[in-house]
Amino acid sequence: MQLDDRTQRQAAQALQRLLPRIQQEFVARGGTPADWDGFAARLNREWPRLFGLLLRLYGTQYDFFYHLEQLLHAMAASWQARPAWLKQLDAAREADPDWFQSERMLGAMLYVDRFCGTLQRLRDFVPYFKELGLTYLHLMPLFDAPAGNNDGGYAVSNYRKVDPRLGTIEELAALAHELQAEGINLVLDFVFNHTSDEHEWARRAQAGDPEYQEFYLIFPDRSLPDAYERTLREIFPSVRRGSFTWRADMQRWVWTTFNSFQWDLNYANPAVFRAMAEEMLFLANVGVAVLRLDAVAFIWKRLGTSCENQPEAHLIIQAFNAIARVAAPALLFKSEAIVHPDDVMSYISPQECQLSYNPLLMALLWETLATRQVRLLAHALSHRFRLPSGCAWVNYLRSHDDIGWTFDDNDARAVGIDPWGHRQFLNAFYTGRFPGSFASGLPFQENPDTGDARVSGTLASLAGLERALRSGDPGAIDLAIRRIVLLHSIILSIGGIPLLYLGDELGTLNDYSYVNDPTKAADSRWVHRPPRNQAALDQRHDPASVPGRIFGALTRLIRLRQRLPALRDGAMELVRTDNEHVFGYVRQDGAHRLLVLANVSEQPQTVEGNLLRMYGPGIHFIDLVSERQVPAHQALTLQPYQFVWLEPAPWAAADMPT
Ligand code: GLC
Ligand code: GLC
Repeated sequence: MQLDDRTQRQAAQALQRLLPRIQQEFVARGGTPADWDGFAARLNREWPRLFGLLLRLYGTQYDFFYHLEQLLHAMAASWQARPAWLKQLDAAREADPDWFQSERMLGAMLYVDRFCGTLQRLRDFVPYFKELGLTYLHLMPLFDAPAGNNDGGYAVSNYRKVDPRLGTIEELAALAHELQAEGINLVLDFVFNHTSDEHEWARRAQAGDPEYQEFYLIFPDRSLPDAYERTLREIFPSVRRGSFTWRADMQRWVWTTFNSFQWDLNYANPAVFRAMAEEMLFLANVGVAVLRLDAVAFIWKRLGTSCENQPEAHLIIQAFNAIARVAAPALLFKSEAIVHPDDVMSYISPQECQLSYNPLLMALLWETLATRQVRLLAHALSHRFRLPSGCAWVNYLRSHDDIGWTFDDNDARAVGIDPWGHRQFLNAFYTGRFPGSFASGLPFQENPDTGDARVSGTLASLAGLERALRSGDPGAIDLAIRRIVLLHSIILSIGGIPLLYLGDELGTLNDYSYVNDPTKAADSRWVHRPPRNQAALDQRHDPASVPGRIFGALTRLIRLRQRLPALRDGAMELVRTDNEHVFGYVRQDGAHRLLVLANVSEQPQTVEGNLLRMYGPGIHFIDLVSERQVPAHQALTLQPYQFVWLEPAPWAAADMPT
């Protein structure tokens, strides 16, 4: 953000006025001069930006300066309380800001309760995480939440208290430290768009405290809710129509974008911004390396708009970012914006979210499996993959949420696809309603008015393993396993941090038992959040078992990725393969170069030798996956769902098969 001269002056003056008192308190609390100097240097660097953002957001409010001062106190106190090991990490990360671009990065996500029960037990799985090669572990929300339905923990009642069934905040902090010592970064959610209706702030609002009623968006009658709803999208239409919930106890309407017990916060109120900034700093000091910013699109409301992706949403996140740079420099943000690709992009920058889910790649990889064609994927990525430097995609195949078809309509039209019809087809395909589909999935949040829907299902079930196992047909099982490995091969090589949903590395199938639990039955996403499958885990080294075949293939690719400098960072150049079933791209880092080709169909496919010669200097390639030589003077045939990672080899290697 560019500041004009006047704002620059105002920023400098504000800091001059505030800093002496902050420093006095710092010293009174026993802070050392060196510790202060580091803090003050970062503050001086970030202050104009932070001040400018907050001035734009809150400058017209009478108590702006009060909040500014309180915020600075909180930042200094938080830095002072930051554990020594995290300050060391801060220094290391400031010296190596691109650490997350490494080819050694690999993420995974899990629910503690479903995976192993408690934080204590999770420690027993650290050897497994290392066996996989994880450097990033996202624990799904594990904070205090309402009993019963709490949206899988996304309704937080207290950001400083772990759900007592899982453990304590002290155990979480110890685990964070232990993981970091093993090279694994802890990732947690920052659920900052809403709190649960049992959070202290919400309770005070319910009790009639006007200060806390202003923390939320609460209305005495339908006039404003009706006005807003004229332009809002319904996110959970099968939970409740509209975006507001009537509270009989308060005789008021409350803004609830998601479930009725998830109350949207009012970020137009500077007290809310400051309160959440303090919760963020608390989480940073627990030892979180990456905060996943939940539901970023929804945090700012403006009448007459969709209330998604408003400009102020960016200002708020940038202000959080500036605060983190000062008081917890190691902390990174990952954006969870599962929206139109242009909007996804708008959250990604070193000053906002350095990391972002890549929902477009995710959805379009499934699209290629359904259509056996790569034209939409290749066209969309050709102008939507490149990120600003200092940023990275988190590439995933599915998450704890549904899969939505968030591609751009014009991208579809540009390659001759009718977007509406195509989404209908993809929903039918992945819910198994399309004749000949290999997939087993369930619809999520079908909207009776718009015909919209999304899809639930585990990776393996959506890729056909469930049907194949049921049929007992070894050929079908083989194809399903190939699809699973193929999808992973792409997120492991295309550029960015690959993210696994733990269980998928073993081919975990849908778990339909959620319908027996009344707190889950109405939410089909539970079909793809099954408990850990210990039997499959025990079979992982048995190459004759299905889990073993998947696990073996994936861990080989992971090892390969770890030693390929061409795979670091995110620069990727798409390749015209002249075969509509073959996806191709080049990865390069300095002298290291890798050509990836992937056949997304169950028929053998051929690419011309010419193509290979364009991308390699010599007469031979080595396919690092099969460890075979590939001569560049003849056509290359890829088997069903085969992929190759080709390294140019100027000379033929005498001892290697072709
Ligand atoms: C995010 C979460 C999702 C949750 C929603 C509300 O999209 O990923 O699981 O339902 O936010 O917090
Ligand atoms: C997210 C997304 C939506 C997703 C939902 C969770 O914020 O915008 O597409 O389905 O919340 O399920």
